[in-house]
Amino acid sequence: MEPNIVLIGFMGTGKSVAGRRLARRLNRDFIDMDQEIEKFLGMSISEVFARFGEVRFRSEEHLMVRRLAEMENKVISTGGGVVLNPENMKLLRKNGIIVALTADPEVVFRRVSGNRRRPLLARADLETVRERMESRATYYRDADIVVDSSEGPPEDTVEEILRALRKYRKTGNGDKR
Ligand code: S3P
Repeated sequence: MEPNIVLIGFMGTGKSVAGRRLARRLNRDFIDMDQEIEKFLGMSISEVFARFGEVRFRSEEHLMVRRLAEMENKVISTGGGVVLNPENMKLLRKNGIIVALTADPEVVFRRVSGNRRRPLLARADLETVRERMESRATYYRDADIVVDSSEGPPEDTVEEILRALRKYRKTGNGDKR
């Protein structure tokens, strides 16, 4: 049985893009948690926030974590807020290696601005992005492997994840910045 590889990180750190490529490289199935929630509820994440609010979204997110944590051998990219519920992380860790993606606030801001898919950053300026990232930083640091995705194309991020995973498997220690 192979553990899941679970990507966590703030919005705009490239979890979905890197996750999809990583899965291809490892010949595993890729699961995007937000997309699974959207499929399950039949509406977009923005719609869930607008119609039912964040509390409801978090509860749907938790239910999805419970389902996905039962799986094995997958690459799973999570929504940026999954770390806020310690129970989520406990479940995902049980059968998963946790890989956090980080990026500079300026890079995140550039990636997410003008993208209406993210209700929590709909009107955020750079300062707001910086504050939100800072308030979550300790959650993301608490991963087995931490990789910065600020520079270079997604392939570089994936290479770095693969390298850190090999090291982690050998030594029980990944790369942490
Ligand atoms: C959220 C991140 C989003 C999505 C929702 C809430 C967050 O996912 O789950 O909008 O609280 O950070 P991405 O990280 O894929 O943008």
